[in-house]
Amino acid sequence: MAISVLRTKSIERSIQDTDEPGHKLKRELSALDLTVFGVGVIVGTGIFVLTGQQAARNAGPAIVISFLLAAVVCALAALCYAEFASTVPVAGSAYTFGYATLGELVAWIIGWDLVLELGLGAAVVARGWSAYLQTLFDLPPWLAGDSAVPDWGAMFIVALLTVVGVVGTKLSGRVTGILVAVKVAVVLFVIGLGLFYVTSDNLTPFVPPGQPSEGVSGGEEPLLQALLGIVPQQFGFFGIVAAASIVFFAYIGFDVVATTAEETRNPQRDMPRGILASLAICAVLYMAVAFVVTGMARYSSLDTGAPLAKAFSDVGVEWASKVISLGAICGITTVILVLLLGQSRVLFAMSRDHLLPPGIARVHPRFGTPWLITIGTGVVVALVSGFVPLAKLSELTSIGTLFAFVVVAIGVIVLRRTRPDLPRAFRTPWVPVLPIVSVLACLWLMINLPVDTWIRFVIWMAIGFVLYFVYGMRAAGRRHAGEAEAPVSPAGPPADRVDRQDTT
Ligand code: ALA
Repeated sequence: MAISVLRTKSIERSIQDTDEPGHKLKRELSALDLTVFGVGVIVGTGIFVLTGQQAARNAGPAIVISFLLAAVVCALAALCYAEFASTVPVAGSAYTFGYATLGELVAWIIGWDLVLELGLGAAVVARGWSAYLQTLFDLPPWLAGDSAVPDWGAMFIVALLTVVGVVGTKLSGRVTGILVAVKVAVVLFVIGLGLFYVTSDNLTPFVPPGQPSEGVSGGEEPLLQALLGIVPQQFGFFGIVAAASIVFFAYIGFDVVATTAEETRNPQRDMPRGILASLAICAVLYMAVAFVVTGMARYSSLDTGAPLAKAFSDVGVEWASKVISLGAICGITTVILVLLLGQSRVLFAMSRDHLLPPGIARVHPRFGTPWLITIGTGVVVALVSGFVPLAKLSELTSIGTLFAFVVVAIGVIVLRRTRPDLPRAFRTPWVPVLPIVSVLACLWLMINLPVDTWIRFVIWMAIGFVLYFVYGMRAAGRRHAGEAEAPVSPAGPPADRVDRQDTT
């Protein structure tokens, strides 16, 4: 058994599984393309929703600093992601990389964990979408938005985008470009117009003094505080860090950019430029929005589902809140689509490796997409987005993503040792120091997430373990035994074929 859980899948085999004559991807993406794509997949619910909530609950106006801290952690992880993506440029993201470096059990764990980033992430973002829909059209609160159970708005957008995923509609570069432009324009609009309403009163004190958290039960305090045995604190230093671990969510998505390494013209130069530029742009935008919003309204009043719109309606600029809601709805849509597709792609890669039943990876004869997986993903994500509150979901998404970053950073070090010969279009600088710092930074944010998020995370991973030993290990074992006797014949179509057809 020890041997099977450590069994790796060679990089060559991973690439062979996705290779198909006449289907070599063109290297045509520039650093600018990657930057636009990056901003498109990063800016979503996080900035439009979590900014206000975390200012109110944890950091006050110092939420600006929280955004900076989270950006630094992401930049470190991004440099590790870029190397892995350029070494293993196939579907499945961190899952495939884990299989190649750390063995089957770790691969399974990451695949299972990525459900939190991608599937659950899509549900969170859909909920944010719905909150802005409710604000825009003044929908009844039972229909859409924060207090709606079920949240029909969130379920509607997930269902719609699932159909898009199944028919394989490719959002052209042009449409993506327009949606990104609208989104960035709205963010700049918030900053530009909002600046006129900033008062120093609202920004004072910039770092509200730490105080015992009001109404915070044991499970809601950050794990770090529980470990240190201190009374749960909000605001002050602890509050800033706790908020950083939650607004980290707003940066999720840059790792998806890394998966385009194979299509990048000059990955060694353009990949880090593209990823870091999109992160930097988002960090500056986020910090500016956070500054403006907490300057416009007292931070304590921002704990709502659509805080940016609220800040404007509070100062009497009702029309601006409508513009923001419309922009948020357009912009957030692309994020949900990318996360949904990312989720179905990871499941696809896992079932191609027989860690999940291979039958579910069947590709639609006409649309060429993994329709069963896409529909299954859509149904589950829609149900979760309809019934579970946003804050709890986003924290679980963040812890899952941070965990994946930890594994990828370790994987970079391991692969440098085990396969120094592999061509790497991009090499992370200062290995092993940078990946080690990245691991520590991610762990630091993780232990600042609430205790109950940790409990949910551990339960989720425990379920994953059980499933692996009950099903995945045996099924994958049968496949490996079969391969030993027969020449390689990929089960199902090349993943990249599915990938590239239906991504933005
Ligand atoms: N970063 C993405 C968002 O904030 C997930 O919506």
